[in-house]
Amino acid sequence: MGYKVVVVGATGNVGREMLNILAEREFPVDEIAVLASRKSLGTEVTFGDKTLKTQDLATFDFTGWDLSLWAVGSAATKEHAPKAAKAGCVVIDNSSLYRYDPDIPLIVPEVNPEAIHDYAKKNIIANPNCSTAQMVVALKPLHDRAKIKRVVVSTYQSVSGAGKGGMDELWDQTKAVYNPTDDKPPKQFTKQIAFNVIPHIDVFMEDGSTKEEWKMVAETKKIVDPSIKVTATCVRVPVFVGHSEAVNIETEDFLDEDEARDILRESPGLMVIDKREDGGYVTPVECVGDFATFISRIRQDSTIDNGLNFWCVSDNLRKGAALNAVQIAELLGRECLKKG
Ligand SMILES: NC(=O)c1ccc[n+]([C@@H]2O[C@H](COP(=O)([O-])OP(=O)(O)OC[C@H]3O[C@@H](n4cnc5c(N)ncnc54)[C@H](OP(=O)(O)O)[C@@H]3O)[C@@H](O)[C@H]2O)c1
Repeated sequence: MGYKVVVVGATGNVGREMLNILAEREFPVDEIAVLASRKSLGTEVTFGDKTLKTQDLATFDFTGWDLSLWAVGSAATKEHAPKAAKAGCVVIDNSSLYRYDPDIPLIVPEVNPEAIHDYAKKNIIANPNCSTAQMVVALKPLHDRAKIKRVVVSTYQSVSGAGKGGMDELWDQTKAVYNPTDDKPPKQFTKQIAFNVIPHIDVFMEDGSTKEEWKMVAETKKIVDPSIKVTATCVRVPVFVGHSEAVNIETEDFLDEDEARDILRESPGLMVIDKREDGGYVTPVECVGDFATFISRIRQDSTIDNGLNFWCVSDNLRKGAALNAVQIAELLGRECLKKG
């Protein structure tokens, strides 16, 4: 006995990865429907060895379906997800729409699996922002051991975090740099992304930070511990897939770098690659298609009493979105929607 599963946004970056991961992890699927906008009606997508035709989200009836994985952005989610939840089809959403609702659990299964039971309040579960998801997997075991007081993080976020359009823009602009008659002005991003970096993701807030930076603060508090202070600088870089982060933490208790390395090595969802030699660390191109979040460059921060630095890299379409959503579905199945 398996589940009747709907993948919403199946033609997008995250949606396609959700289908791959459901198949790779052999999620028990009895029946599957794939949805996108009307313009993609009939578009074929792959699920394992099957080819599926995309249906129109606007006219789909969610009655009788067990759970749905959403990756369509906040506006379409706001319009259609409540219908699915009301029809009894649990919504696992990748947009930022529901993340800060106190009645909706925001879950990273390695970090706060106990929150799953709150799903029944609204039949909706939120998936965190990509840059938060990979960071909290690393923060949680260190927090359990030494209580993190403050996090200073700088991100190096790939263009796939901005959807299919972001990837196309990097590709087209890169080619145009070599062919100056082929001008490709910025559309998805605010400045040229090819051969450049942009210290701006999402809209500006009143205090001068960006919404992406605010998300890392608010989501870390909701998922790990409201007492942790976080300050973030989020930067878009010309990488197709894979977000990187330089993380500095200050803890209440002293934590030696060797013990931190051992803790991270033993923790779920993490892979430590940390040799102090040329190439003894992970870069984004190496994490693509992997389930793990990779940790490198673990070292003491000698400028404060209890400080550590590390480098954290993960496939943003996987742990940052599709993998985490599928892990939530697995957790939901184990804990709440048992079958068979
Ligand atoms: N990329 C990441 O790293 C990441 C990480 C975490 C969360 N997310 C979130 O996941 C969501 C999707 O991101 P993405 O990167 O997959 O974007 P994407 O590649 O641009 O794909 C968007 C998907 O949404 C569908 N869609 C858009 N508007 C729709 C509408 N009105 N009705 C039905 N379907 C609609 C598109 O269908 P058509 O092809 O028919 O237009 C497409 O399938 C966003 O909320 C994003 O913030 C992304």
